[in-house]
Amino acid sequence: MSRKKVSIIGAGNVGAKATYYIAEKVIADLVMVDIAEGTTRAKALDFLHAGPLRRYDGPIRGTTDYAEIAGSDVVVITAGLARRPGMDRMDLLKANAEIVKTASLNTARYAPNATVIVVSNPLDVMCHVALRATGFAIRRVVGMAGILDSTRFRYFVAEELGCALSAVHAMVLGGHGDQMVPLPRFTTVGGIPITELMAPATVARLVDRTRNGGAEIVGYLKTGSAYYAPAAAAAEMVEAILTDRKHFAPCAAYLRGEYGIEDLFIGVPVILGRNGIEKIVELELTEEEKQGLRASADAVRKGVDDLNTFFRAT
Ligand code: LAC
Repeated sequence: MSRKKVSIIGAGNVGAKATYYIAEKVIADLVMVDIAEGTTRAKALDFLHAGPLRRYDGPIRGTTDYAEIAGSDVVVITAGLARRPGMDRMDLLKANAEIVKTASLNTARYAPNATVIVVSNPLDVMCHVALRATGFAIRRVVGMAGILDSTRFRYFVAEELGCALSAVHAMVLGGHGDQMVPLPRFTTVGGIPITELMAPATVARLVDRTRNGGAEIVGYLKTGSAYYAPAAAAAEMVEAILTDRKHFAPCAAYLRGEYGIEDLFIGVPVILGRNGIEKIVELELTEEEKQGLRASADAVRKGVDDLNTFFRAT
């Protein structure tokens, strides 16, 4: 079997941690690209120093040169700014759209056969940037956040019940924002829906905490956002694609009528394998769940409209 190659664009907290988690899986040669040369070189070297102890091998390269991503099977785009004081959402959207566009154009140039995993925020909108700029087939551009949002839900459920994390499976649909749609009916412990195990008010509290999972961490950190769980979610997706695992999980996928949604990236259950998104799984939703998904889709569409206005103006 020929060696697989994964490139991570952005060696910040999420990108570096994702690189490290992927290294520990021992499934691919790794390249980290960042505009900050010292940072990317230092982190790659540091990971290699840990290799003999953590039982993985190189190569792990840290570089500023996109040419080094040549031949990648998967490219993970994590580059982007976090919101700083004085920046509004639109400023962030514009800044990150430019960054994700550059990463995507270089991916198309140097790694035309890659599957792209988008991690940069605002996540669902950045998937549109990546799809357009790469020109890749729609099922080879996939957004990360559903696995992150559902792993948070899994943790909150396990904590509430005092049970093992591994017993809990969760489903969260929608965009990666306040209006995401955690689905208690499809969130189970040992196969039993949590709606059978907890009072409705408890379920509602955990749903709410899931929606605010990212914000809760920003509240503690003050100057940044979460990175261990986002990186772990990205690494899980890389593994599913490289090993053709047919992993079933929510991811941001480009919809063409599925769930009654057209021309939009949003989180839905998919099967992830060698070909990227191999299938979108359509669940039968209740009226309330459908409404939640529509509201979340409207919020993402507003971001895409802002993006279009911005790109028309440039
Ligand atoms: C979060 C941010 C990083 O959910 O999107 O933590």
